[in-house]
Amino acid sequence: MSPEDDAIRGLREALKVSPDNLPLRVHLAQTLCNYGRFDEAATEYRSALSLSPENADVKFGLASAYLSLDEQSKAMVILEDLCRSAAAPAKAFVVFAKLLLGEGKVRDAVIQYKEALERDPASADPILGDQLGVGEAYQDGDVVEGRSRESTQPEIESFVSEVERPKIKFEDVGGMDKLKEEIRLKILYPLQHPEMYKAYGKKIGGGILMYGPPGCGKTYLARATAGELGAGFISVGISDVLDMWTGQSERNLAQIFEQARYNKPCVLFFDEVDALGGRRSDMSSGAGRHVINQFLSEMDGVEKSNDGVLVLAATNAPWHVDPAFRRPGRFDRVLFVPPPDLEARASVLRIHLKGKPQDAIDFAQVAKKTPEFSGADMKAVVDQAIEEKLRLALKEGIPKPLITRDMIAAAKTLRPTTREWFSTARNYAIYSNQGGIYDDVLKYLNL
Ligand SMILES: Nc1ncnc2c1ncn2[C@@H]1O[C@H](COP(=O)(O)OP(=O)(O)O)[C@@H](O)[C@H]1O
Ligand SMILES: [Mg+2]
Repeated sequence: MSPEDDAIRGLREALKVSPDNLPLRVHLAQTLCNYGRFDEAATEYRSALSLSPENADVKFGLASAYLSLDEQSKAMVILEDLCRSAAAPAKAFVVFAKLLLGEGKVRDAVIQYKEALERDPASADPILGDQLGVGEAYQDGDVVEGRSRESTQPEIESFVSEVERPKIKFEDVGGMDKLKEEIRLKILYPLQHPEMYKAYGKKIGGGILMYGPPGCGKTYLARATAGELGAGFISVGISDVLDMWTGQSERNLAQIFEQARYNKPCVLFFDEVDALGGRRSDMSSGAGRHVINQFLSEMDGVEKSNDGVLVLAATNAPWHVDPAFRRPGRFDRVLFVPPPDLEARASVLRIHLKGKPQDAIDFAQVAKKTPEFSGADMKAVVDQAIEEKLRLALKEGIPKPLITRDMIAAAKTLRPTTREWFSTARNYAIYSNQGGIYDDVLKYLNL
């Protein structure tokens, strides 16, 4: 038997006799760590924590074990909690700062690292200090924070390829005039007439949150906005955000915002942003909360730098979105994207039929026959009609243009997909309409 096994077996045996002996259990955990058995160590630290839930050293031990196991997000949750307590050891702040830096949260990393130095100057980590620009200068109270930008730049370049250049423009989007105007006010005009905004002391910045039933063009409009501006387009979806949250992604929010700034003018689009909803129980604490807070602080940064980045977000479930998102400078414009009205439905049809063989289609007539249809539903009408026509053409050998009747026949085979959303939204609009955010939904429903 090796000395390692001997030592560990001895400790385990002693613990069998006195399972509640905290120092003994911690000693076993440390010994396991020394031998690289981090998995078992984590188990012992967890038992130790159940004996002494607020024990700072045990928490730090557990976080370290998780780190050695490459379980960053678990370590993060513990450190986040630990570093709020007065009892936290200085080295916990150092480790926390490293993790934050790894996530691109330079500002927060600096704060934590300074706290470590404050508590124990001997905890200084010269390499980390150098990366954060917190070094000798800090000793005389003069902090240098200039290093961050340079050090993140190469990482940005490595995923620049994800910036799209959409071809579609506002004219390719049917209806949505109010939203288009809002977007022009927020970004097009400020870019074109900065002096005008300055003269009136109007601050530029903040984002627009779009909500409404699925298929009504939220994602489509975001893309068209970039096309209209000749801007880059970065779309961040639920899965990206959840990956960041669970530590499965190298990318993080700070990098994405940085990438948008680097590619300005740029539309930065967060799709299905309810995944970031602070109201969801799984996002309201720990690492989930951390991602939300990071998101919000980045939003605030965009306002300050006001540099040709338009932040748009969309959700089908605005009731899951944390109210903190709606503060000034964040998503201070929350806009309802309703299903297209009569006129908009006609223009969605026209858009999707462009370049297709057709003969004098009465768009208004088809629009009349498609109440409650979403933009996506209208597109489905077009697809369906084309498919049918193609089938006929192949059978008869003669291609014929699409006519009004084809469109109406296709519409009859389809049902509007917006109803279900309204049956949910209705309740929120009536019973939790704080600040009147759902006034437009109520108006739409004639309530
Ligand atoms: N107003 C519109 N004008 C033209 N096409 C639209 C419009 N609204 C929706 N569509 C079509 O429906 C598809 C789905 O819309 P999408 O933007 O994904 O809806 P949402 O994001 O609101 O769920 C779009 O890709 C587009 O082809
Ligand atoms: Mg969408």
